[in-house]
Amino acid sequence: MKRILVTGSVGQIGSELTLELRKRYGNDNVVAGVNRTQPTGLLKDSGPWELANCTDFEQLKSVVKKYEIDTIYHLAAILSGVAEAKPDLAWNVNINGLYNVLEIAREFNCKVFIPSSIGAFGPSTPPDKTPQDTIQRPTTMYGVTKVSGELICDYYYKRFGVDTRGVRYPGIISNDTLPGGGTTDYAVEIYYEAIRNKKFTCNLKAGTFMDMMYMPDAINAAIQLMEADSDKLIHRNAFNVTAMSFDPEIIAASIKKVIPEFTMDYNVDEVKQGIADSWPNSLDDSTAKEEWGWNPEYDLEAMTKDMLSVLEKKINV
Ligand code: SER
Repeated sequence: MKRILVTGSVGQIGSELTLELRKRYGNDNVVAGVNRTQPTGLLKDSGPWELANCTDFEQLKSVVKKYEIDTIYHLAAILSGVAEAKPDLAWNVNINGLYNVLEIAREFNCKVFIPSSIGAFGPSTPPDKTPQDTIQRPTTMYGVTKVSGELICDYYYKRFGVDTRGVRYPGIISNDTLPGGGTTDYAVEIYYEAIRNKKFTCNLKAGTFMDMMYMPDAINAAIQLMEADSDKLIHRNAFNVTAMSFDPEIIAASIKKVIPEFTMDYNVDEVKQGIADSWPNSLDDSTAKEEWGWNPEYDLEAMTKDMLSVLEKKINV
């Protein structure tokens, strides 16, 4: 039987992933691990939650022991914008936190899901249809921690047999919990502002292409990979996955189709622009398709339609 711990369960991905895992594996079998912020609403009411700060080895270990955890979805992480502002914090959470998770997984024989990111690539990476295996020399602190994470996860599998698995997520767009401090966050904020004010000021330049994905596909990617037949996995960690690639002009045009009065102007954040410019324009995710059947459901038009209709109800109630 599966006994799952989700770290970072109040975060953008963690909050929705925890609820989906509870649906699939039973409420009591999925522990929402939090750092400081207590869960609220359904996340709090539908199942157990515990303080499980990944930088606190003993605290994390005691939760794994108490609930006899056999699977960890390690979602606690510092995103790219915050990592540039606080590199020491990013190193501590993204590296030392992951190391703690892996050591505990080794001791308690847990399977581990760890997200990497498009941020694991850098300016010398081929930017279009970036291959699965290619140059990785990121120039951001976030990217440095993500590449290190990919490598240490491979190492723990090869050296100690810890069943580590992971994907390189693109920007994730969702209508529930907001992302915190990422470079791709504009693609979430634009929908909120389209509903609230029918206009948006974008902090990245026109022509800045990045990969993106709607949350239901991001959740499916994690669970599908964790359920995949181990023998079929040639890669284990850091699978390129994507659902779409667009720049600010293209997402704005897709919103305009639904809200014709919507307008957008620009006020570029140089730090975030620099980060975005160092990342690929689009990923090649054929390896994930071949090895475990990755197949996203939402394209830009379907996502925009759903985002706007959900946010319309949420904001205008
Ligand atoms: N969404 C993340 C960020 O922008 C990328 O993985 O930091």
